[in-house]
Amino acid sequence: MSRLRCDHAPAWAQLQAHYAASGQAFDTRTAFADDAQRFAHFSQAAPHVFVDLSKNHIEAATEALLQTLAQQCGLAAHRDAMFAGEKINTTEGREVWHVLLRAPRDAATASAHEAAELAKVHRTLDAMLAYAEQVRADAAITDVVNIGIGGSDLGPQMAVLALQAFAHPGKRMHFVSNVDGHELDATLAKLRPESTLFLIASKTFTTIETMTNAASAKRWFEAAGGHNIARHFAALTTNVAAANEFGIDTTFGFWDWVGGRYSLWSAIGLPIAIAIGADGFRDFLAGAHAMDQHFRHAPLPANAPVRMGLLDVWYRNFHGFSSRSVAPYHSALRRLPAYLQQLEMESNGKRVDSQGQALPFGTSPVPWGESGTNGQHAYFQMLHQGTDVVPVEFVAVKKARHTLQGHHTLLLANVLAQAQALMVGKADAGGHKHFPGNRPSTVLLLDDLTPASLGALIALQEHRVFVSGALWGINSFDQWGVELGKVLAKDIAPRLDNGDASGLDASTAGLLAMLRA
Ligand code: F6P
Repeated sequence: MSRLRCDHAPAWAQLQAHYAASGQAFDTRTAFADDAQRFAHFSQAAPHVFVDLSKNHIEAATEALLQTLAQQCGLAAHRDAMFAGEKINTTEGREVWHVLLRAPRDAATASAHEAAELAKVHRTLDAMLAYAEQVRADAAITDVVNIGIGGSDLGPQMAVLALQAFAHPGKRMHFVSNVDGHELDATLAKLRPESTLFLIASKTFTTIETMTNAASAKRWFEAAGGHNIARHFAALTTNVAAANEFGIDTTFGFWDWVGGRYSLWSAIGLPIAIAIGADGFRDFLAGAHAMDQHFRHAPLPANAPVRMGLLDVWYRNFHGFSSRSVAPYHSALRRLPAYLQQLEMESNGKRVDSQGQALPFGTSPVPWGESGTNGQHAYFQMLHQGTDVVPVEFVAVKKARHTLQGHHTLLLANVLAQAQALMVGKADAGGHKHFPGNRPSTVLLLDDLTPASLGALIALQEHRVFVSGALWGINSFDQWGVELGKVLAKDIAPRLDNGDASGLDASTAGLLAMLRA
């Protein structure tokens, strides 16, 4: 079944009319007053995550029209095509199969090809987890340095931090991503070669930042007397030949059907596995798989990622909200906003549809944010009283893993209070003290922050991004927009040495001259 771009579907015009008639002037406070069941109607359980959408600018008619839109656009067929391993990444001619990375060994497969790929997944997973256990048991290795960038950094870094309560106490995990030498230099200063394991994480094994850092790490290791590369370096890559060429023989592979920003479930997740162990990593995959099953099988009106993705379309294309603040009320989730930025903006930051036609509507919102309660003392002023409406997505975790008295109650009270304040506002004061209220927010509630619940939370986010991208008719799985800067940096680097400014614009030439002076 072919996809229909959202603005070509009949429901699009109906949604425009609905927005003009009642969407624009929607008031959440009135909606709660009018519907005693509103919380029940607009919230739902999904695996490991409870999703409360009730404080958003939606009513039953909005959701019904968005659901019709999803049907008319062929969302379910597109989702099924992803799960079936069709080459929905059309501009690169690739399957989009990260869901296979978390499918159980004995999962039903729909084709011989899928069965073969699943077998490869589990062979590699077994080998990688055995290696993770070997590293965990090796008391002489105290420091693990992941060298990678983008999807080869953000996911593992976010997850290792999020799951610190489950982490091996004897392993310090470091993440070096930036080509800025200050980062590697500061990390190396803390290390001894004989107790360090470097993981060179790069899908392509060509990314200039990672290759530069890896080469410097290897030089440092050898200069400091290190010799056993096989023991102290491993590569996580689809390009095993390039890793071998670099001098690394311990390699864990994955496949071109794993997008970089979807790769933490693959060998790229090795730092997570070293931190939390093989069983923990399997729980992480199982949590994601539970969310995959929900996305795949739950009826669309009761499908959490579908409802969230449709709300994203409603906000972006009808309300015109161009960003979303992500506020995890758990300090271990403080890298979540950065992770979600790559997930959403690299996936859906596209200006043409999958046919290459320019889009007449907005696509990716900008996810941004800080962990709570810190954000409250920084940017929440703007959320409450600024001129722009920014939907907020709170993440709250019921259970604390510390015993400090009073803290967690206060933390949870603040989540509820902020979501409440955004909605109810404060009308009995004028001027500077007036809060308009009616500002939308979502609460994602986890019972506990565990490998399984984190896996489910991340898969939920992946799928909600899939949903909006599917309706927008774009290819959410390529990233051509990062290429131009890479090419230009290659052109400029030698000019910083030789001073050649020919063909450069006056600003670039002027700055080049200043940097050389
Ligand atoms: O910046 C583009 C990008 O290709 C991301 O999509 C990717 O996650 C990152 O670079 C790193 O790529 P690699 O894992 O191949 O080094």
